[in-house]
Amino acid sequence: MAEFKEAPAGASVGVKTMTWLENRFPTAFDAYKVHMSEYYAPKNFNWWYIFGSLALLVLVIQIVTGIFLVMHYKPDAGLAFASVEYIMRDVPWGWLIRYMHSTGASAFFIVVYLHMFRGLIYGSYRKPRELVWIFGCAIFLCLMAEAFMGYLLPWGQMSYWGAQVIVNLFAAIPFVGPDLALMIRGDYVVGDATLNRFFSFHVIAVPLVLLGLVVAHLLALHDVGSNNPDGVEIKKGPKDAQGRPLDGVPFHPFYTVHDIYGVCLFLMAFTAIIFFAPEFGGYFLEYNNFIPADPLKTPPHIAPVWYFTPYYSMLRATTDVMVNVLVGVVGIAAVVSFLKGKFGGAAKVALLVAAAALIFLLKVFDAKFWGVVVMGGAVIILFFLPWLDHSPVKSIRYRPDWHKYVYAVFVVFFLVLGYLGIQPPSDMGTLVAQVGTLFYFGFFLLMPWWSRLGTTKPVPDRVNFHAH
Ligand code: HEM
Repeated sequence: MAEFKEAPAGASVGVKTMTWLENRFPTAFDAYKVHMSEYYAPKNFNWWYIFGSLALLVLVIQIVTGIFLVMHYKPDAGLAFASVEYIMRDVPWGWLIRYMHSTGASAFFIVVYLHMFRGLIYGSYRKPRELVWIFGCAIFLCLMAEAFMGYLLPWGQMSYWGAQVIVNLFAAIPFVGPDLALMIRGDYVVGDATLNRFFSFHVIAVPLVLLGLVVAHLLALHDVGSNNPDGVEIKKGPKDAQGRPLDGVPFHPFYTVHDIYGVCLFLMAFTAIIFFAPEFGGYFLEYNNFIPADPLKTPPHIAPVWYFTPYYSMLRATTDVMVNVLVGVVGIAAVVSFLKGKFGGAAKVALLVAAAALIFLLKVFDAKFWGVVVMGGAVIILFFLPWLDHSPVKSIRYRPDWHKYVYAVFVVFFLVLGYLGIQPPSDMGTLVAQVGTLFYFGFFLLMPWWSRLGTTKPVPDRVNFHAH
């Protein structure tokens, strides 16, 4: 056990209390130093670096408002819809709690998408931060599961039919699909059993995993240290006599103050939406979800909430024609690798066999199944990003200028896919979504090739920082 510290003679009650606490719980004080007052973060952070803290804030908002919602919500197919209406109309401040939670769900995705994009442009997933990124991707998966299951709970028409459509997708998996879908629903159609298990996962199982992953995400980050807009490792740069990086500043107070400022701006936008536009034109709360679930009446147009629509578009884009295009792409890729690849003969033959097997599978299973694979693959591929990017530099700042256009087109296609996923299907929309889907996967799968191309700019030894 560490030596007991003594408060200096004549110390204030505050100092005495802290000394008393530190003697009994030194771990907490050490953690504060390691993660706050002595965590040296690069001094050139820009506004892209606010979204991690905002994600933490939204996580807390969701947990706290969720706890209060559960006090009045009834996870029963016969009572759920009315219990939400009761929260909205009769529970004191219930409307505020509910709108905070529903707006929080969309805010979470906005913040997390921006947070991920920051990682993408500054190469924050590259060595030594691969695990930080992987924990992040796992968080993103959990977040999607959490939002999907939470959406069933109000038991409106969209809750019901959205769950029906998505759970039915699992039935497209060969051999095990129908049993899997049955297991997820707990019934032959979405029903009370489904509502109960989604409730249980939404309020306890997934949040626990999410919290664990967020802790792992932050611990892993603080072990290797933060990246920055220049992609320069401050730990490798010059240090002071105590071994502290000269290009770093203690997280507290520098970035706590910075983040509080960002939090204030965020809360202004967040509260404006809650008070003036909580449905946000039907994007945050869909109008059809104000109609109680009716298993006998399918709504004419079923669309998921906006944050899922890019992936939903990819699912809808995977038609028979698209599968034929994929067969062509796999064939061409295999022939080009065979002719141009700089690897051994045995590997080339193995590649051809693998491509032939994939083409066979593409033609054997139906397009709906491949749609599910494409939709899932669009998220899973993110896990591999650290090994797909072969650029000699991390940050977009020092990459060839045309890389910026590649990222810009990627963002535009992602937004267009998101837009198309909200719209009812059309021939033109499907075609654009197919091009978008090919670009999305091409962006990642061809990254080992294109990320190496072009002339990079010289990366400075120290971070770029201009005092305000
Ligand atoms: C609940 C969700 C999340 C929370 C609360 C969270 C929290 C944080 C915080 C507080 C930081 C440090 C501050 C910052 O760099 O912004 C951070 C950094 C980071 N996060 Fe997340 N994060 C979440 C989700 C994600 C996701 C989904 C990804 C990627 C798939 C991700 C990837 C990263 C990366 C790569 C860093 C290091 C950035 C750098 O050093 O440049 N995070 N995260």
